Amino acid sequence: MTVSQNQLEHDFREVFRTPHPVAVFRAPGRVNLIGEHTDYNQGLVCPIALDLACYAAIAPATHGKLRVYSAELGETHEFEIRALASLSPRHDWTDYVVGVAQLLQRAGVEVTPVDLYIHSEVPRGSGLSSSAALEVASALALLGNRGMDRLELAKLCQQAEAQFVGLPCGIMDQYASLFGREGTAILIDCRSYTHSEVRLPSNLRVIAVNSMVKHELASSAYGQRVAECREAVAELEPFQPGATSLRDIPLTVFERFQDSMSPIPRKRARHIISENARVLDFAAAAQSGDLPEMGRLFIAAHRSLQYDFEISCEEIDFLVDTAIKIKGVHGARMTGGGFGGCTVNLVDPSAVMEFERRITAAYSGRFRKTPLFYDCEPSAGAGRFTP
Ligand code: GLA
Repeated sequence: MTVSQNQLEHDFREVFRTPHPVAVFRAPGRVNLIGEHTDYNQGLVCPIALDLACYAAIAPATHGKLRVYSAELGETHEFEIRALASLSPRHDWTDYVVGVAQLLQRAGVEVTPVDLYIHSEVPRGSGLSSSAALEVASALALLGNRGMDRLELAKLCQQAEAQFVGLPCGIMDQYASLFGREGTAILIDCRSYTHSEVRLPSNLRVIAVNSMVKHELASSAYGQRVAECREAVAELEPFQPGATSLRDIPLTVFERFQDSMSPIPRKRARHIISENARVLDFAAAAQSGDLPEMGRLFIAAHRSLQYDFEISCEEIDFLVDTAIKIKGVHGARMTGGGFGGCTVNLVDPSAVMEFERRITAAYSGRFRKTPLFYDCEPSAGAGRFTP
């Protein structure tokens, strides 16, 4: 955390010059440890909420508008409140805010004129969920003192992204931002919408490495994977009657009937079904402090994403392959939606400096880009930001 509530309030007043009281809300990004693309298949995921967060400072206004300012981009945009219900996406960062405002309104929450100042520390396009952090921070700010059930809020933000922004995402990012807890990862069951804590061994650091690339393919491929997983369910349903998602297909059923499937849905199903099992194994290994097993599962998950789900890329594979050869690195894998962004690494505390040095040298030598490192300390979920 690099900002203070006072600083945000001060910066807010510099931009908006309002006499009204300012309230500040914080929503963290997340790093997913394991369980990738399983969320929209009603499966299991295991993220941690990050210290890196999006902050939304808000004050009431009399201009009849939703006025939003991004500190990172230095730009302001205005939307008439009375036109909110009929607005369509502009295909920029404001869509996350407007989408959330529109859905809140549809859910019966009165959205009143406000000035909204956004400051985000979550790097965009990095796979650390800057969009969910922005959605959740904006939603909390617009709600103010009006309460809303956290799960309902996570679903509302997810719907804003799926329906307004147009990315058919699962619930993981918004859920992790709202339910994350200091000092622990959470294992989320994306079918029952419940979670349990997964304590990580103390002799371990979780380091995210930003490849500094995000390939164009990312959002179109995401929708394609959602569709391919649906096809896989349709092909497997005759062997598991009543199955509505890949979560309903036991590994034994998949193994027995996979030869009758078309090649692409078969690969996608193999990733999702094996990944759900890896999430459970990972949680068990973490609870018993079995670092080699946690590392093995990380690498197996990466290979599955690389070859079966086919959402990795050259830069990310290079980062993983380089990392796992470094002494003191238990495991490495891509994290997030895919096609760039970050890897997540399980590193012995004594090896972190050497890890960062060697990754920087190798990666910049090969791709002429300097990677960034984030120490992923499990942090608190979203809420009012108090000094
Ligand atoms: C993105 C989506 C999530 C999830 C991940 C992949 O972050 O927003 O819902 O599907 O990709 O695990």
